[in-house]
Amino acid sequence: MSDHRFRVCRFRLRDVLATAAITLALVACGGSDADNGSNDTSGDDAPSAANEAQSIFIEQGCAECHGEQGEGSGEPRTEIAGTRMIIQAFTTRVRNGRGAAMPGYSEEQVSDEEIELLHDWLRTN
Ligand code: HEC
Repeated sequence: MSDHRFRVCRFRLRDVLATAAITLALVACGGSDADNGSNDTSGDDAPSAANEAQSIFIEQGCAECHGEQGEGSGEPRTEIAGTRMIIQAFTTRVRNGRGAAMPGYSEEQVSDEEIELLHDWLRTN
């Protein structure tokens, strides 16, 4: 009796673990694919995420003030390549802007996913 119960439990646990593993794998490998709807073959995920991030950076005008690689435009504090800001601070800065020099961006202009892409790209630039 108790043996039977134990087996039921183990099956459930295994299901939960399997589901968790699949979910993790999807999140880890499919994050950027889900964003752009394209189906990149795994392996060139990193370059395509970088390309997409730079396109956003240029399209949204970030590059005009921050340089095409985030290297800065010569204005103070515009160098953001290699940023060590954590994602929360980075997002807040993009949403709220800063003073007159840095405009804020609404979610319609740049989504949270796009900000994350930009953050990932800039950190490793
Ligand atoms: C009109 C020029 C301009 C545009 C466009 C612009 N920025 Fe900025 N940004 C600035 C300036 C200037 C600062 C420095 C503000 C300060 O600290 O006084 C700044 C600061 C930042 C910071 C904080 C850097 C730090 O270390 O404190 C981040 C992150 C940032 N910008 C990201 C972006 C992103 C992403 C975009 C596009 C979605 C963007 N900016 C568009 C001018 C701009």
